[in-house]
Amino acid sequence: MDRVQGKRNVDFLDILLLARDENKQGMSDEDIQAEVDTFMFEGHDTTASAMSFILYSLACYPEYQKMCRDEVLQALDGKDTMEWEDLSKIPYTTMFIKESLRLYPPVPGMSRITTKTITFFDGRTLPAGSHIGTNVYSLHRNATVWEDPEVFDPLRFLPENVSKRPPHAFVPFSAGPRNCIGQNFAMNELKVSTALTLQRYHLIEDPTQTPQIVPRLVLRSLNGLHIKIKPVDP
Ligand code: HEM
Repeated sequence: MDRVQGKRNVDFLDILLLARDENKQGMSDEDIQAEVDTFMFEGHDTTASAMSFILYSLACYPEYQKMCRDEVLQALDGKDTMEWEDLSKIPYTTMFIKESLRLYPPVPGMSRITTKTITFFDGRTLPAGSHIGTNVYSLHRNATVWEDPEVFDPLRFLPENVSKRPPHAFVPFSAGPRNCIGQNFAMNELKVSTALTLQRYHLIEDPTQTPQIVPRLVLRSLNGLHIKIKPVDP
């Protein structure tokens, strides 16, 4: 995900329009392929990583899992699908998902190459052509911002607690002009998948299998993420 700083200048609609009109000057086939690859990578592996760690976190914290399930069952009210308006009826589950994205950010780091000299507030400068890395995994465990950072606590995301933190304390979808354009869609995917899973299954930790978490392009576990599942109504 190394790339030069700059404003997003191509969106998915542009890609489709340009791909349709072969005579139009603009993107080459390689450019279009690169953009489609970006969508496939950014949209798939990230969501798979997020969902895997959410299910793992639910298994590790049965009391929070129960609170999420109670909320989901009430919101769905007997339906076996989730509708648009139901997405806003599960605030506790949404906070749980965010806490999982904090401790297990699917994109654990990002990098940029500067195109011009940056002058910081204290007068120090960074020349053009510098490679900059941001460690999101560490940022989300920064003890000056997050009290007891290793503790899993969904209530960190109550609005009154969020307002006490700097806006860039939590950046699973990055920030600025090149942040994730799929973040609302991704949050909705995560809410639906979590809710419908909780409606059907109990998730149980397997204490014999501790994940070995590694920051690759997306956050992964070298030995997989092992949980046990049991139907809610056997
Ligand atoms: C939990 C799921 C997701 C996470 C954590 C995530 C995270 C991110 C992050 C951190 C970036 C910035 C990367 C960088 O600065 O180097 C990004 C960019 C991007 N994401 Fe997502 N993403 C997710 C899901 C999705 C989905 C579902 C889509 C599309 C359907 C998507 C499309 C994109 C695209 C196209 C970019 C590049 C934007 C640009 O360069 O201007 N992402 N994502």
